[in-house]
Amino acid sequence: MQFKLDATGDQFAKSEVKVLSAYQVTTEKKGKTPTSETHYDIKHWKDQTLKEEFDNLIAAKKYKGGKDESLTFTGAMGETVHVVGLGQKNKLKQEDLRRTIARAFKAIKSSKYEVISFDLDGLNVLHDVAQTAGTIVESILLCDYAFDKYLSKKSSNEVKVVNLSHFDKKQISKIEKAIESSKNICSSINVIKDFVNEAPNYLHSEEYAKRVETDVKANLKGVKIKILNKAQIQKEKMGLLLSVNAGSAYEPRIVHLTYEPSKKTSKTKHIALVGKGITFDTGGYSLKPGASMMGMKNDMGGSATVYGAFRAAVLEKAPVKMTCILAMTDNAVSSLATFPDSIITGRNGKTVEILNTDAEGRLILADALDYACDQKPDCLIDAATLTGAALVALGNQVCAILGNDQKWINQILDAAKTKDEYMWQLPIIDEWRNDIKSKVADIKNIGTPMRAGTAIGAAFLEEFVSKDVKWAHLDVAGVVEAQSHLPYCSSHGASGLIVRTLTHLLVHGQH
Ligand code: BES
Ligand code: MN
Ligand code: ZN
Repeated sequence: MQFKLDATGDQFAKSEVKVLSAYQVTTEKKGKTPTSETHYDIKHWKDQTLKEEFDNLIAAKKYKGGKDESLTFTGAMGETVHVVGLGQKNKLKQEDLRRTIARAFKAIKSSKYEVISFDLDGLNVLHDVAQTAGTIVESILLCDYAFDKYLSKKSSNEVKVVNLSHFDKKQISKIEKAIESSKNICSSINVIKDFVNEAPNYLHSEEYAKRVETDVKANLKGVKIKILNKAQIQKEKMGLLLSVNAGSAYEPRIVHLTYEPSKKTSKTKHIALVGKGITFDTGGYSLKPGASMMGMKNDMGGSATVYGAFRAAVLEKAPVKMTCILAMTDNAVSSLATFPDSIITGRNGKTVEILNTDAEGRLILADALDYACDQKPDCLIDAATLTGAALVALGNQVCAILGNDQKWINQILDAAKTKDEYMWQLPIIDEWRNDIKSKVADIKNIGTPMRAGTAIGAAFLEEFVSKDVKWAHLDVAGVVEAQSHLPYCSSHGASGLIVRTLTHLLVHGQH
């Protein structure tokens, strides 16, 4: 899909599909009921007939321009005119625009148009035309994703060109930059949605590492990639990762990516990202019941999230050094799989009593976090589909955040707010740290059943993070899945959420 700026209105006038906006102005007079008038401002009408038709519809009160009230009519040239209602335009926020554009784009996409035009100036509700353009492009690109590789019949509707009409030449380079950013971020989100949606019989650990490598080599110039195979993981003494991998038909993988900004000073921060990449979670010997096992191909969603953010931040030339560590294996059952009651030594030397093989994410992350801390980052973020308890506490919509440094957590919460993604902090308290003490090993991999599961998971991870590293853990178990309330997310499969938050943090954060 191509985005073109249309500074003369010529493309708009010629277009088969025109997306316009209308809004309401309400006047309140003392003692009288408030009255609402419908308005639109479209700067340069090349097409007087269209203007008249639209005026007539408004005059006849057939269309009021209320929020999310849309109107589609056929113009005199046979073109489709789709009017987006903005309601009280000044009250709209960026997230409203994202959702409004997504609804409009989906409505148009279901018809077979290849070229569509948006009246960017009329849609500039953010009073910043570059930001508005970036938001429109972001929304469209996120909507335009489909995981259809296994469908014999694919949808043939493909929008090839999106024109954005804008008449102030001074802003053009800013607008182009905003569009480029949205493309970088959304291409990364769509790449990781493909990883998450891929079936587990195809995307096992060895294949996952290969696909990341292929993507890095094709798109991320200057990024160093190192992939540890089983022998190298044994050499690293990652006993916990190996214990989860013990029942697998595939080798485990650690993918280690490094990026350095072009301008590096002694003040340049180093941020490490670590992700859980369980390509399928059966639970191991602590087997999941059938219904809970469905969807466990998503259990590599944390690694996909951090890779997506790393990828976008590299494309956006983040001013920080970044290390990204993805830990990959499945959690399978076989005669070689780890028994509950086993005691395993992790890379940092701590011994772990494995009482439940279904609490495997924390085991692979433990070794990956310890390995990441050896890279001496200033700050660290891990993301993982770690606990079902995150869904109980915060539903599908809100990402849980926990960690050891309130300032670092606040920065991530701020980034989430800026990008309109829900995130909420849960505490880690000493009582829960005590809950994972074991009588026969240093720690055990579960706490009291049905009690503060998400925080217990985080308390376990904390044991493997160096005290001098600012660390935050994101439990993305709920948010990796489709978000039915968000029109710019697919209705099924991977959501791609949190990549925008983390990218913003890496590229624009204060660190
Ligand atoms: N991958 C699951 C967590 C999960 C559950 C993600 C539901 C998405 C949806 C994780 O490995 C797991 O099984 N966690 C256990 C931990 C328990 C045994 C302490 C859980 O949440 O039940
Ligand atoms: Mn599990
Ligand atoms: Zn899991």
